[in-house]
Amino acid sequence: KRVVLAYSGGLDTSVIVPWLRENYGCEVVCFTADIGQGEELEGLEEKALRSGASRLIIRDLKEEFARDYLFRVLRAGAVYERKYLLGTSIARPLIAKHQVEVAHEVGADAVAHGATGKGNDQVRFELTYMALDPRLKVIAPWREWDIRSRQDAIRYARERNIPVTATEKSIYSRDRNLWHLSHEGGPLEDPWNEPEEGMYLISTSPESAPDEPEYIEISFESGTPVAVNGVTMSPAQIINHLNAVGGHHGIGRVDLVESRLVGMKSRGVYETPGGTILMAAHRELESLVLDRDTLHFKDLVALKYAELVYSGMWFSPLREALDAFVDSTQGPVTGTVRLKLYKGNIIVAGRTSPFSLYREDFATFGQDDVYNQSDAKGFINLFGLPLKVRALNGLPVSGL
Ligand code: ARG
Ligand code: SIN
Repeated sequence: KRVVLAYSGGLDTSVIVPWLRENYGCEVVCFTADIGQGEELEGLEEKALRSGASRLIIRDLKEEFARDYLFRVLRAGAVYERKYLLGTSIARPLIAKHQVEVAHEVGADAVAHGATGKGNDQVRFELTYMALDPRLKVIAPWREWDIRSRQDAIRYARERNIPVTATEKSIYSRDRNLWHLSHEGGPLEDPWNEPEEGMYLISTSPESAPDEPEYIEISFESGTPVAVNGVTMSPAQIINHLNAVGGHHGIGRVDLVESRLVGMKSRGVYETPGGTILMAAHRELESLVLDRDTLHFKDLVALKYAELVYSGMWFSPLREALDAFVDSTQGPVTGTVRLKLYKGNIIVAGRTSPFSLYREDFATFGQDDVYNQSDAKGFINLFGLPLKVRALNGLPVSGL
């Protein structure tokens, strides 16, 4: 019997290793996806082995994450409940997909994860396992064991000589990757509490951001970011770069009370500097090149897309179908957007595209000879006809 555990090296998954061995009598293979969580990867193998794992498999998935997951969310314009850029949600299917692959490679019959029974992540992991290999047995220790608190977990680790680092004692539950850093729990559990400044890890406060604005140019090809300030970069490099620049200017902080899949409201604070800049730039370019009907319909699709990603329904027929729609809209989303970053704000300074639908000769308030203003009269007459009929028939109009 062999299980592959989605392992982060944090307190919870460190405790899961001995727990699986003791309760299932199985060999534990740890799997860590490198999706840009940064320093957490140092010393991870030693830690996994010390916790009792037979081995640790690490895969560098940063470019795959950026290209096939984050940039899809970006192209779709998906935002959950008006604010959340889905940083944790979108990472889960990628991690779980590779975990299933690793399970096949090492001949495991089970997979395990460290998500709690109260959260969204358990759903996202397990929907992916189900979609990709329903034969694998799923073990979710948080739903089985009697560890109830961080203190319990720390004690459990100590009893087994598993080192607990200072960050693992943090009052916040955090999740970090290339796209974002999330904070939940601790003082955030009261939605009236303002987040303490010391909680933020990748962005400065708007108050202490530079007094000088910074201009930045982002170039897209068919909806995909390809360059910053004229310098071509890989998807992960672009996000990394914009995280640094955006974080420096206090950009991308979000404080949200959100509806979890499992029913309750929860409060989360997110830092997504690069993602926030990219979303703003992409949105701006779409406004220039997409026709009205496509643009408006795409906003409806974005809403559904966000819901699917949040719910962990990544490997689903509807997500694929929505991506087909999104892809078919992105051809003309090529060009450059110029933004001014200033104390937490993204201010649009300019946009240009070879596929621009904007024509100064049509739009001008000055003299033109392409637009006949008298045409508008008939248009308004017909467009307003239903309103006219209602009034002629003496039907009530609310607000009078
Ligand atoms: N509430 C966010 C979401 O559901 C963030 C979850 C953070 N996850 C974590 N394991 N700390 O996507
Ligand atoms: C967890 O419960 O593991 C984190 C929170 C979430 O998944 O929403």
